[in-house]
Amino acid sequence: MELSAQQVADFDEQGYLFLPDLFDPAEVAVMRGEVPDIFAQDREEVWREKDGKAVRTAFAAHTYNEAFRRLAAHPRMVGPVMQLLHGSVYVHQFKINGKEAFDGDVWQWHQDYGTWARDDLMPEARAMNIAVFLDEVTEFNGPLMLIPRSHKRGVLAAGHDLATTSYPLWTLDRATVTRLAEDGGIVAPKGPAGSVLMFHSTLVHASSPNISPWGRTIVYISLCHVDNHIRQFKRPAWVAHRDFTPIEPLADDCLMQLAAQAAE
Ligand code: SIN
Ligand code: MN
Repeated sequence: MELSAQQVADFDEQGYLFLPDLFDPAEVAVMRGEVPDIFAQDREEVWREKDGKAVRTAFAAHTYNEAFRRLAAHPRMVGPVMQLLHGSVYVHQFKINGKEAFDGDVWQWHQDYGTWARDDLMPEARAMNIAVFLDEVTEFNGPLMLIPRSHKRGVLAAGHDLATTSYPLWTLDRATVTRLAEDGGIVAPKGPAGSVLMFHSTLVHASSPNISPWGRTIVYISLCHVDNHIRQFKRPAWVAHRDFTPIEPLADDCLMQLAAQAAE
């Protein structure tokens, strides 16, 4: 799959691209069906909210689950990212964020590259985030909020917040967020399960707690140009990966092939 010249220009200007319905309902079902089992596992990669129960994020499922292994090499996702980053990419991070009904906690305002630069010594912001919606995302269940054009500001000053949630994060202060939002506004792309949101690794983003009765499962895959791999291995390998092998995109129907195999 290739992005149009207009889509590339929009991404450069706004810092994100929203592709509704990139995966169809049958493909979503293949992935969504794996989530309860992953979330029920008692393993270090499955990180819970402060209540110790609701899943905040499940790391690295592509290393032990076949459906997510296929998603991490899916041509509809990897192709556009290789186009935007001009070359081969590897998986820097893979998360399934639960944002569970009633219990899903806040993600404070931050830039992902802020963490990758400070914690992992990733040389440049030649990396991209891809959000794959496994549930419908609405105004109620904590949609991701983005500040358009904020990716053009480079790495912003941040403080290491170890207290607000169960997950340490380099977060921006209120004055910075206010200033950026005066310029770019805030958008919160919403859409059906199967939609995909690609955003630049320095784009400022956040999400509110989910007080609704509807879960908001989103897979976040962070792909990095192979030449730009991380230089410091401070965080566990299942948080910031150390396998820099270029992704070989799979066939476009790879998820449905898996469903067919399961039905045999
Ligand atoms: C993130 O920024 O990594 C996650 C945000 C969210 O799931 O809302
Ligand atoms: Mn983030």
